[in-house]
Amino acid sequence: MLVIVKDSYDEISREAAQIVEDRLRRKPNLVLGLATGSTPLGLYRELIRMHKEEGLDFSRVTTFNLDEYVGLRPGHDQSYHYFMRENLFKHINIPEGQTHVPDGMAGDIDAFCDWYEAEIAKRGGIDVQILGIGANGHIAFNEPGSSLGSRTRVKTLTDMTRVDNARFFATATDVPKYAITMGVGTIMEAKELILLANGAGKADAIRAAVEGPLTCQCPASVVQLHRKTFVIVTRDSASALNGRYPGTWKSSISLER
Ligand code: F6R
Repeated sequence: MLVIVKDSYDEISREAAQIVEDRLRRKPNLVLGLATGSTPLGLYRELIRMHKEEGLDFSRVTTFNLDEYVGLRPGHDQSYHYFMRENLFKHINIPEGQTHVPDGMAGDIDAFCDWYEAEIAKRGGIDVQILGIGANGHIAFNEPGSSLGSRTRVKTLTDMTRVDNARFFATATDVPKYAITMGVGTIMEAKELILLANGAGKADAIRAAVEGPLTCQCPASVVQLHRKTFVIVTRDSASALNGRYPGTWKSSISLER
């Protein structure tokens, strides 16, 4: 695990984008795992800029998103389908058929989850997985208490997550109660993880993830076991950490561990 502390949100976004760019230039048919939420927006903006100004090519990339609310149609403006289309996919040259977001309207959710896992496996697994972190330590919608070996499935959202996400909905009661999410075990199979955090509100979660005990009470703590994880955080998100971590890691882009 490599923890990189930066002064600003723009810097964590750029650092993450440079790693993705490097991996994509080395493997044009990269399999990219994506997250939604506020945190990766800067990374997506930077990837769009790299595509438009520097010709970064997404035509052979395949993407798999971490999660989607159950019961929201892809056209719903709070669905993660919509989020990804608006904030990334429509601005880059990725064919729609190569993007995957869990289907929150699936009739047979269990069958859908099995299919999603099989699609990831068919492509040789996820090369680089982008992750945000919940204030409660969740990754994707793997809430505290999630099995560390879990696979893609339905999870009940905690009240805290529903309150956190209520800012995007008209009222708190509009926030769906369930989501389809990749499991912790699914995420751990990605070859590289990039965990991003921004703001003081994530400081306790980042401390628990990076320096706390490995526990399902903080699903993000599982990154301590992953062989190739970048934790890229702003100084305020890092403020509760005891260890000393580099602000820059010049060779991070080509780091092989
Ligand atoms: C979203 C996801 C969630 C978010 C987390 C942080 O796909 O997987 O785990 O990453 O809730 O959300 P933000 O970035 O909005 O603070």
